Amino acid sequence: MIAESEKSLHTSLLPALLVAFVLLLPPLPASAGGLAPLRLLPEGKGENPFAQESIDGKKLERGLKVIGIGVAGGLFWIVSLRRRVAVRTRQLRSQLERVRQAEGEIARLHAELVRTRSEIAFTLGEVIESRSHETAHHVRRVAAMTEFLALEEGCSAEKAGLVGLASALHDVGKIAVPDAILNKPGRLTAEEFDVVRTHTTMGHRILSACGGGSLFDLAASIALEHHEKWDGSGYPQGLAGEAISPEARLVAIADVFDALAGRRVYKAPWPLDRIVHELIAERGRHFEPAVVDLFLQNLEKILSICRAFPDGSVKDTGEEHLSPSEERTA
Ligand SMILES: [Fe+2]
Ligand SMILES: [Fe+2]
Repeated sequence: MIAESEKSLHTSLLPALLVAFVLLLPPLPASAGGLAPLRLLPEGKGENPFAQESIDGKKLERGLKVIGIGVAGGLFWIVSLRRRVAVRTRQLRSQLERVRQAEGEIARLHAELVRTRSEIAFTLGEVIESRSHETAHHVRRVAAMTEFLALEEGCSAEKAGLVGLASALHDVGKIAVPDAILNKPGRLTAEEFDVVRTHTTMGHRILSACGGGSLFDLAASIALEHHEKWDGSGYPQGLAGEAISPEARLVAIADVFDALAGRRVYKAPWPLDRIVHELIAERGRHFEPAVVDLFLQNLEKILSICRAFPDGSVKDTGEEHLSPSEERTA
């Protein structure tokens, strides 16, 4: 910085020195009749209109001074322009640095917001699931499986992440289901099951009231439709096929898979081969055929995803206990 200012100082002195030099030029020697005639052609060679002209020394001196002052003025203008450019450049660099710092801060705050949003969604989902004694990591496994399947279906990483996060809230509506029904061992009566069914519409209502936004819109749709079945025999609306949102179709298989693989108040964990058999049996009935195919083609990867959230993971051996009412995977 110091070297730059010194350089600028030296440069700014240059035109001043040049002006002083021009002004202090000694006067040209002048004779009474001016300078000797300036001969441009050898004497006697043709017509030379300038041959007899003489140059006035005073005029030449004034001309040189005017040119010198003009050059010095030009240099001065260039130097002052350079200085203004340098000052403006420094200002712009400083502004650019502030913009970069602001961008970094915005990126940090955005990452924090995304992390906080994820934690809130997972925590809320886990709190709700804990009422029905779901295993602690049920919603995280469902979310991870759903995100994986969405990616395999061709969704962008951003969209798949959002669908996975939204899936964590699939059972939020259970908050409105009484404990006596939610935790009742064994089969539910028809009336009790009607109450359980309301967790879909209640979840949709709660999440729709959250003010919209892509996460809550998705979560509301998933909460409403995650018990619909491909053949139209699900609830609450009896939607069939592609009338069910693609996200809800993914959550449906991930939710049932995790429920069958884990222990519930009404059932013991199923062995893996029995779960696979069940998924194949429900291909085109409960689940979209293409989703079952995708799931089974990637079974090893899905199992390793589930192992990242270890409680209630898939057991290879396990005895049958209570009859696993699929409806109780609510
Ligand atoms: Fe669930
Ligand atoms: Fe449910």
